[in-house]
Amino acid sequence: MKAGIIGTGHYVPEQVVTNHDLEKIVDTSDEWIRTRTGIEERRIAPDDVDTSDMAYHAAVQAIDEANLTAEDIDMILVATVTPDMGFPSVACQLQARLGARQIAAMDISAACSGFIYGVVTAKQFIEANVHQNILVVGVEKLSKITDWSDRNTSVLFGDGAGAAIVGSVSEERGILAHELGADGSGIPHLHQTEEDFIYMNGREVFKFAVRQMGDSSLNVVKKAGLTKDDVDYLIPHQANIRIMEAARENLDIPVEKMSKSVHKYGNTSAASIPIALSEDVKAGKIKDNDVTVLVGFGGGLTWGAIALRWGK
Ligand code: ACO
Repeated sequence: MKAGIIGTGHYVPEQVVTNHDLEKIVDTSDEWIRTRTGIEERRIAPDDVDTSDMAYHAAVQAIDEANLTAEDIDMILVATVTPDMGFPSVACQLQARLGARQIAAMDISAACSGFIYGVVTAKQFIEANVHQNILVVGVEKLSKITDWSDRNTSVLFGDGAGAAIVGSVSEERGILAHELGADGSGIPHLHQTEEDFIYMNGREVFKFAVRQMGDSSLNVVKKAGLTKDDVDYLIPHQANIRIMEAARENLDIPVEKMSKSVHKYGNTSAASIPIALSEDVKAGKIKDNDVTVLVGFGGGLTWGAIALRWGK
């Protein structure tokens, strides 16, 4: 039994907030944000659209793309650090709203690495033949924990959702290798404050991210018994174009083979990798048999990477 991704979906709110819009709120400039991060605009959800709403839209699309119905889903995993409420989980909200059976449903908290954690968790249940079709969602409404008066963080983040169905695929396809890790000693550098806002020491996180994205992506390629030359496509966590470029250069991958949506969505944390995956699959950028590397890092500090061969 081999696990792979058999359907993808994504949803982003309609409202676009540009760098120029932010110039009116904090002491920043379009030029600073573009050159330091690669971000040009981001999507922000309105008050009446919460995390579970975005998750629902992405999930419906992924279930449909996998040619399944909600009844076929036998586990729901939602990666988020911005649930609608402390409990119940977004996964339980989704179970009810999708009309799924009374299956296992839970949230995963691993910040920007959460979707990778979710897919790797799903893989274990599929390959143990315990479950057949697992819905994994990465979703964030970061705008509700963003301090809009803090220029160090408010220019970086956006809202959105991405989803994937993890199911069984043929022996030649699917997830070839993975790596997950965490280092809680990094908590002072990136965490939620008592006022519920994001605090980030950008320089420390930057250094960690460059090292970890490079190491983890190479590690999964090696674990899969492959070399850099075998990699057809790279989807790095869309946090900052300079961090993404470092990961790309580490794998010697040409620019056109790296996913890039940071300019239009900013950093959507757990949603960034599944949004990119869903968009790129629909745009035909990832083709059957392509060796694809997904790699992310985030608060925890956490990290994760997956090497997979695309297709069923
Ligand atoms: N506009 C203008 N100036 C700014 C802004 C802004 N929006 N933000 C910070 N600055 C200023 C700072 O005040 C500081 O000024 P100072 O030197 O006078 O004190 C200076 O710019 C900061 O310069 P650098 O630290 O050199 O900026 P750097 O090139 O490192 O870029 C950035 C900062 C973009 C935050 C970068 O460090 C970064 O991307 N870090 C990683 C962030 C990340 O990816 N986090 C992901 C995890 S998020 C999660 O898990 C939810």
